[in-house]
Amino acid sequence: MPTIKDRDRQVIWHPYTAMKAWPEAIAIVKGEGIYLTDENGNRYLDAIASWWVNLHGHAHPYIAQRVSEQIAALEHCMFAGFTHEPAVRLAERLLEILPGNFQKIFYSDNGSTAVEVALKMALQYWSNKGIKKNKLLALQNAYHGDTFGAMAVSGRSVFTEAFTDFLFEVDFIPFPGKQDSSYSLATLERLLQNGDVAAFIVEPLIQGSAGMLMFDADTLELYFRLCRKYGTLIIADEVMTGFGRTGPLFACNYIQTTPDIMCLSKGLTGGALPMGITAATRDIFDAFYDDDKMKMLYHGHSYTANPTICAAALASLDLLLQDSCTQNRKRIINAHAAFAASVAHHPLVNDIRQTGTIIALEIATETPAYHTTLRDVMYRFFLSKNIIMRPLGNIIYILPPYCISDEELQYIYSAIKELLGSL
Ligand SMILES: Cc1ncc(COP(=O)(O)O)c(C=O)c1O
Repeated sequence: MPTIKDRDRQVIWHPYTAMKAWPEAIAIVKGEGIYLTDENGNRYLDAIASWWVNLHGHAHPYIAQRVSEQIAALEHCMFAGFTHEPAVRLAERLLEILPGNFQKIFYSDNGSTAVEVALKMALQYWSNKGIKKNKLLALQNAYHGDTFGAMAVSGRSVFTEAFTDFLFEVDFIPFPGKQDSSYSLATLERLLQNGDVAAFIVEPLIQGSAGMLMFDADTLELYFRLCRKYGTLIIADEVMTGFGRTGPLFACNYIQTTPDIMCLSKGLTGGALPMGITAATRDIFDAFYDDDKMKMLYHGHSYTANPTICAAALASLDLLLQDSCTQNRKRIINAHAAFAASVAHHPLVNDIRQTGTIIALEIATETPAYHTTLRDVMYRFFLSKNIIMRPLGNIIYILPPYCISDEELQYIYSAIKELLGSL
């Protein structure tokens, strides 16, 4: 009998994979808590929450139960001209906890589509008002997704190289310095002063794909205040940071000034099913609320607000808002901090940084690029320890489901120390 892995090689094209160099995929047959089990019975500790989506552990019985109840009652129906309880309830509950004056929830399919919708909302907002503001600003190194609009507002990198000629122009603000963000702020202000900037999009506090690059909440606050001052819309892309990753429920909880538009996905369903959300304030919505049909938002997907997925998101929210989940996040934050202190002075650690439940180590190397051999060495090292870790070039990071135990965290920390000793 051919294995799943063998059959995969015949028919599957994997994401973000150099298929020639990396022809083999590990076939996972079961998920439980922090672990994934492959077809040969090997169990792997999921240290990066399966591309940052999983919050409460794999195949969570409560989420599974709620999903199965919903799929048996109403699996799907189109969302133009129709609605349903799970979508309405999820919107009501999210609006209660989102930081800001959000009043409307727009559903889509994933993080990239949540960003596409946000960009379209921001650009059409001004065009509906008859005001010429058609520039977009973003932060250097940003990653907002893989669709064309999302790629355009992402930093130009190996991810976007083949498509450079097809991406619309965006001005990028320098990433804030560790000690001093004044140059970054001054650049933002200079560009805003032109008066033609529709929106500034930013991953608040942490740029994930760029290598878990972190900046402080004061700088984020100042970015947002400048946008307010010059009448530019603020888009907070909380696709990665949302739902507790940075400690509080959202990274924007760290600051006072609130965004006009927010993008959510990943942890939204606890990592069970794909969904994107773009939240908008009343002011944004009102610009589309008109007798003129040309002013409506021309966007929608076949599976918009799928009720089964909404049920997963509602179940995940129940778990997220329990005290035990808050306590778990605190526990992870404290454990990370103690680990950081214990390796900070290692000669191979260029930098160690933490925001909330996310910790990243930058390993000293001559070639800190996405495709370094060091990256593959580290990836294989962790796999040999039954840990799933996908280094971003020379950067390793832990972004765990919140149900990870102290012992499991210590196991990952020890493996990292062993790696440092072996390099
Ligand atoms: C900040 C941010 N925005 C958008 C995306 C795109 O999300 P998706 O992969 O669901 O399209 C990602 C994915 O990593 C992300 O980290």
